[in-house]
Amino acid sequence: MALLPLTSLDVSGKRLAVRADLNVPLTANGVGDATRIARFAKGMKPLLAQGARLVVLSHLGRPEGDLTPALSMRRIKGALSDALECPVLFNETCAGELAERVSENLAPGEVLLCENLRFEHGEEVNDPRLGAELARLGDIYVNDAFSCSHRAHASTTAAVYAARIPAAGPLMMEELAALEGALLNPQYPSVALIGGGSAAPRLGVLKRLVRKLDAILLGGGLANDFLFARGYSIGRSFHEPELADEILEIAALAMVSGCEIILPEDIVVANIQRPGVTGHALPLAGCPANGRILDIGPNTVERYRTILKGARTILWNGPLGTYETPPFDAATRALAQTVAEQTRAGVCVSVAGGADTLAAMNAAGVTDDFTHVSTAGGAFLEWLEGRTLPGIAALERAEHAA
Ligand code: 3PG
Repeated sequence: MALLPLTSLDVSGKRLAVRADLNVPLTANGVGDATRIARFAKGMKPLLAQGARLVVLSHLGRPEGDLTPALSMRRIKGALSDALECPVLFNETCAGELAERVSENLAPGEVLLCENLRFEHGEEVNDPRLGAELARLGDIYVNDAFSCSHRAHASTTAAVYAARIPAAGPLMMEELAALEGALLNPQYPSVALIGGGSAAPRLGVLKRLVRKLDAILLGGGLANDFLFARGYSIGRSFHEPELADEILEIAALAMVSGCEIILPEDIVVANIQRPGVTGHALPLAGCPANGRILDIGPNTVERYRTILKGARTILWNGPLGTYETPPFDAATRALAQTVAEQTRAGVCVSVAGGADTLAAMNAAGVTDDFTHVSTAGGAFLEWLEGRTLPGIAALERAEHAA
């Protein structure tokens, strides 16, 4: 079923109530990483220029229905205003009569940011009454938060059903087009790089990817788990022994599906994970009992680089080492550069996603060189796994019913 793209509608003079994902990391000085704000603003600016009246709805953190001043949306008002290059008004609530009245008084081109959706008890329980109140904030109700669409909350689900006109925002459409291109209609050879910390949330993804792609290159905690399942000694490295059987099943599934799962052939090991600690590149069988694998080794980087250079579609989730602790960011940086170069040269389509992945791509300075870097964390993994995302299903059904 198709979605109704907001960009196909005449928005001039219309109130747009837009569910955005402005859930950004905060520091004592304000916003730690404004990527999500920037990506949202990029899609909204042309609509404001067309005379739309914008009501922005988002959550920040997990206040669980409590009015938590540290998680007030006020904290990102300045960053939103900078990104949109216009003043932003603020309302103390995200629903109810006052919010509705303020939204009605907006002039074309004006922006209203509402208080944290998760200060409302009805948000996370998908309360239809809250959904109806949110929907009334716009002539068109828009879900532009792919990264929140794995949550069946009032702002992603009930509000969409209650909306007069439910539409998919520009960032939502961009995220879906990129993911569908990379996984449902890939150009071959198609390769995934999968790393990250815990393997548990990625096993469902792997089961789907082995059926769709030519090769999967492993790093991070997932590689440790595969190595452990295959009987290698991995010392004190992070791993989840209880996943070993499922991992061997995935390896067998990959074999019958014609997908090659490629493991590191060497590893970078240290006794402790601390910035500046020297890591030792060792052969796969060489991890000492007290050692911890903190990155994939240089020979593996070269092998992965060669495979990536031959790929036409590259999908990336999860850093390959403990990238937040240099020098164990070396492999992630090196391969991110390779994918960026291949993408710039027009050789491949590259799509990366996942919370740590976005941070790692930003740290490597390659975010703008990939075809698409998703702003989503959990939603990216659930979509890759083939699960129905309630926020997307609501947009499809509401559009179909209209
Ligand atoms: C995210 O950061 O992945 C989204 O904003 C969703 O946040 P949540 O995991 O708290 O629902």
